[in-house]
Amino acid sequence: MESLIIAPSVLSMDYTRMSEQLQALERSKADWIHFDVMDGHFVPNLSFGPDILKQFRKSTDMFLDTHLMVSDPEFFAPIFRDAGADLIVFHTEALDNDPKRIADLLDTIHSWNLQAGFSVKPDTPIEPFLGLLDKADLVLIMSVHPGYGGQKFIPEVLSKVRTLDEERKAGRWNGRIEIDGGINSETAKEAKEAGVDTLVAGSYVFKNDIESAVDSLC
Ligand code: DX5
Ligand code: ZN
Repeated sequence: MESLIIAPSVLSMDYTRMSEQLQALERSKADWIHFDVMDGHFVPNLSFGPDILKQFRKSTDMFLDTHLMVSDPEFFAPIFRDAGADLIVFHTEALDNDPKRIADLLDTIHSWNLQAGFSVKPDTPIEPFLGLLDKADLVLIMSVHPGYGGQKFIPEVLSKVRTLDEERKAGRWNGRIEIDGGINSETAKEAKEAGVDTLVAGSYVFKNDIESAVDSLC
């Protein structure tokens, strides 16, 4: 099993206290910052553009895990590369679940020397993409319908985590399994038991004391 990484989602950050909260993240056991990009089309909400990611890049050395919830990831991936992403994760659904387009975008992101991953919404199965795992540093399993923080965890998605973990245990893959949505100290435990090694948590981290909330996920 990969070592555990906590990736707080700054979608839930209090932007009137950004530098204070960023310092708390840096003091905490979190190694990554999860940056949710929403285009108002792939999901019914808008969040941040590349200029905000650039501000994070200037302010911290933490690893920037960039989750593209956009309809045109082929267009936006280079824009977020230039803004300072360390890892770019896009949705299979945005590429019509077409394995060739998914493979090509993973290869393109790797050609920039960045890490690359793909994500599936709660209702999208994982089996059609198992053949692409060797091209992915990480697979992100959505445990809520993407678009908003603060939703309830959907436990049924853990069967996809177990499928991915079996691929690793069989020695066919050695990437990370990340989960995103509704993570708190209880659901984190369930997710880790199923094989998750990378936990995204937004509202749970930022609505509590940041450092102790991160501790409680470890
Ligand atoms: C949801 C985003 C998540 C969100 C998680 O579409 O992808 O990263 O910030 O928020 P919580 O942890 O509050 O469910
Ligand atoms: Zn996310």
